[in-house]
Amino acid sequence: MKIIMLGAPGAGKGTQAKMIAEKFGVPHISTGDIFRANIKEGTELGIEAKKYMDQGLLVPDELTVKILLDRVAKEDCAGGYVLDGFPRTIPQAEVLDAALDKLNEKIDYAVNVDVPDENIVKRMSGRRACLKCGATFHIEHIPPKQEGICDSCGGELVLRDDDKQETVQNRLKVYHDQTQPLIDYYAKKGVLKSVDGTVEMQKVFQSISDIIK
Ligand code: AP5
Ligand code: MG
Repeated sequence: MKIIMLGAPGAGKGTQAKMIAEKFGVPHISTGDIFRANIKEGTELGIEAKKYMDQGLLVPDELTVKILLDRVAKEDCAGGYVLDGFPRTIPQAEVLDAALDKLNEKIDYAVNVDVPDENIVKRMSGRRACLKCGATFHIEHIPPKQEGICDSCGGELVLRDDDKQETVQNRLKVYHDQTQPLIDYYAKKGVLKSVDGTVEMQKVFQSISDIIK
């Protein structure tokens, strides 16, 4: 089962991807989480990616594509995966399709988590993310049991650097310009499924579960 999560920044791609990955026993692959892990470790990739991420811009395709293709070639991806935050541009989608074509494989579902811009800004300021396992919480909607500590792994919860209000506005603009065209791209391939992402997260997951069988 190969699934792509589409949606604006903060739409709940990561939240849902985690649940889908657990349900189907496949890895959850977030390019954003991979970059953040590299930033934390101070790798060359992390230093380069941070320049773009802090401004709400996309990390260039040359850096992103290779990382993703290497990751999906790993053994744990043999039974499929949930991609969260990739592809984010038409060229990225084309590279992924070309790689899958060679293996005679294809994307089964592109799940678009639909949330209007107005809701996004509110969500981002309340989000807290685990630096260790990537789990996300929300100080009002999905609070952790203990403030500042991840329920899943005990890691430290932080406000992401790119969740500042002006950066969020930039990320939304970049999303509309560069990522939203992927909705049409996958609709034309007949794999697009849209769900209402404004309702409570368990309800969003129920809608997704009804689609992915
Ligand atoms: P990335 O980490 O992918 O960030 P993003 O797309 O901006 O999306 P987010 O992670 O912010 O949101 P999400 O949709 O996962 O929502 P979440 O579940 O956390 O990318 C970061 C940066 O890395 C990019 O800006 C770019 O620079 C770079 N990058 C990454 N991939 C790239 C690529 N392929 N190419 C180029 N550059 C790339 O939920 C948000 C909040 O809402 C949480 O607090 C959550 O608890 C809460 N919430 C979730 N669902 C609900 C609900 N139903 N109701 C109420 N609250 C909810
Ligand atoms: Mg995310």
